[in-house]
Amino acid sequence: MQAGKESATALVTAYVRAYHAINATDPIFNDTLASRFFTPEMLAFFGGNMAALLGAYDPDTAATGPDEATALAAVMRLTAPTTLSRSRFAEDSLRAAIAGGLGQYVLLGAGLETFAFRETELLRFLRVFELDHPATQAFKRRRLVELGWADPEHLHYVPIDFATRSVAEALRQSSFDPSVSAFTSWLGVTYYLPRETVLGTLRSLAGASAAGSAVVFDYYDLDAFDPQRVAPRMRSTQAITQRAGEPAVTGFDPSSLAGELAALGWDLDLELSPADLQTRYFAGRTDGYTASEHVHVARAWRRRSG
Ligand SMILES: C[S@@+](CC[C@H](N)C(=O)[O-])C[C@H]1O[C@@H](n2cnc3c(N)ncnc32)[C@H](O)[C@@H]1O
Repeated sequence: MQAGKESATALVTAYVRAYHAINATDPIFNDTLASRFFTPEMLAFFGGNMAALLGAYDPDTAATGPDEATALAAVMRLTAPTTLSRSRFAEDSLRAAIAGGLGQYVLLGAGLETFAFRETELLRFLRVFELDHPATQAFKRRRLVELGWADPEHLHYVPIDFATRSVAEALRQSSFDPSVSAFTSWLGVTYYLPRETVLGTLRSLAGASAAGSAVVFDYYDLDAFDPQRVAPRMRSTQAITQRAGEPAVTGFDPSSLAGELAALGWDLDLELSPADLQTRYFAGRTDGYTASEHVHVARAWRRRSG
């Protein structure tokens, strides 16, 4: 992230959810509030900027000179699947976990996620903790004030820089209850952090989480960082986020992920590859959306001991 500035990628992923909720006839993830974070001027500004990325993703189509709406739709087809499928997976997993008795939801790197404002019924059972970089969190909170959205009673904001503060310490200084099992989502963040920060955060989270707690996160596989193997749209995405000051630096090998998580106190119970995500969320769609190459999601549970 650029020093002192809110995360550019958090704005982009919120825009993606807004665009999808407005335009999709059969939404993969229906964030009905995302668009309200943006003024009409901001929506137009982001739409124009995103449409202009067509040249980076698909120079041949860009060269045909499509109008802005067409270019934007094409860019969304290529970029939105990562955000939409991971959010869908996380909230479906969360709902199942709540049915199993979970009482707390921690969003690491929450960005402009709207869960706490959208799922007001669930907040009757859940206490929600949004942990994010202070600059992004301050931006979100300013925008909420401008919108006149009151914070739900059970929503708690906890500023953190994962590079300098442990999740356990941050949660200790909040009203998080370590004796109550918690569901944590960590979406769109692991690849932007150094490996030791990702591992340290997962270890710290395990230490702060009661038995029966769960974590869901998405990650890039190692081929995403191999110039010989990386898929074109991932190459373009990485070039763009690098230019925005948020370079992707960390990936995992799916075949050794279970062992790495076990060493940190987590039992992997589900790992979905791009092919799995394609089957689960994109098969049969007629809008041309397909699962993003190299992007996986994982779900793990806090062990009973250790
Ligand atoms: C791509 S956004 C994802 C936001 C949200 N989870 C979503 O899916 O839309 C990345 C998020 O990670 C946060 N982030 C990046 N580096 C961070 C750090 N060192 N400490 C805390 N948060 C960080 C940013 O503030 C931002 O909210």
